Amino acid sequence: MKAAAIAGFGGPDAIKLMDLPEPLVGPDIVLIRTAAAGVNPVDLKIREGRLTSRYPHHFPIILGWDVAGVVEAVGPAVSRFRPGDRVCAYARKSCVEHGTYAEFVAVAEESVAPAPESVDLIKASALPLASLTALQTMDSLKVVSGETVLIHGGSGGVGSFAVQLLVGLGAKALATASPGSADYLRSLGAVPIDRHGDVAGQVRAVAPEGVEAVMDLAGGPEAVAATLSVMKDRARVCSILGPPAITEDGVARGLKGSYVFVRPYGSQLSELSAMVDAGSLRIHLHGKFPLEKAADAHRAIQAGGHRGKFAITVGDS
Ligand SMILES: NC(=O)c1ccc[n+]([C@@H]2O[C@H](COP(=O)([O-])OP(=O)(O)OC[C@H]3O[C@@H](n4cnc5c(N)ncnc54)[C@H](OP(=O)(O)O)[C@@H]3O)[C@@H](O)[C@H]2O)c1
Repeated sequence: MKAAAIAGFGGPDAIKLMDLPEPLVGPDIVLIRTAAAGVNPVDLKIREGRLTSRYPHHFPIILGWDVAGVVEAVGPAVSRFRPGDRVCAYARKSCVEHGTYAEFVAVAEESVAPAPESVDLIKASALPLASLTALQTMDSLKVVSGETVLIHGGSGGVGSFAVQLLVGLGAKALATASPGSADYLRSLGAVPIDRHGDVAGQVRAVAPEGVEAVMDLAGGPEAVAATLSVMKDRARVCSILGPPAITEDGVARGLKGSYVFVRPYGSQLSELSAMVDAGSLRIHLHGKFPLEKAADAHRAIQAGGHRGKFAITVGDS
């Protein structure tokens, strides 16, 4: 099968179109004929060799953790899917080798969900990893209706879903991004905050009482530290970049930190897929590239300034 893969770590040029063996169909495996693979920053990190301390890697490595397509075959123990079903999945494995930038992807049944019926499979491929991360971060923060949440990095893949989920819950979302994304953030229901300006000052202007929770989706400890003054006492901070460092002052004020590393739960992805069909969650695709131009998708993410997600299309999709 055709796949976009790397034979060694490197820049986008390391990605080559290769002919590699089709995956095997184990007893609990759903074999997906790929229509599109969603692109995530972690794909770039893997390409650069930045995850070697976390997972075993085996070359050649097919990149990609997100997939949408049609079920080609199922293992004998699979009960919820059958050939012909439209599906999507966050297809992270315990070893980095068999990714989703390929004509076929084998995924454990528990990570697979029906693809939303109201969008094409290219858009559906942009849903899994980023929306699951947004949902699991919101769950970790235990956000409730009426609360005000500051999101560092609201315009990207995860941020776009996080804003919508928070607003849908009845929370007020203040989201940082570059000024060019302000209208986009408004269209999602967020109050835009210019990340290059005085972030704390802008937050104070719209939420003088402070915020109950902070999602760190970009910016890291620096961005969090710069907004400590606008967090209410006992505010919750959740980062997807690493365990958030809460300063001594923050600890004294009762701030609580958590770190989410997204889990590939098909049951949650099914709920998110249903939300797309119900019209309560929109998937924003910033651009798409054919499999043989996968390197350009990586360059586009690296360049920044995008809103929402990128996808790599496979075959005739
Ligand atoms: N722990 C996990 O499970 C997990 C899961 C998913 C993603 N991640 C990580 O989370 C990060 C975001 O993922 P993503 O898919 O949303 O990436 P993305 O689509 O590239 O979006 C990142 C966005 O953050 C904005 N940004 C960049 N630097 C910023 C800063 N200093 N302050 C505020 N905003 C900033 C950019 O907006 P502008 O260009 O408009 O400035 C960009 O749109 C990546 O590092 C990714 O690897 C972790």
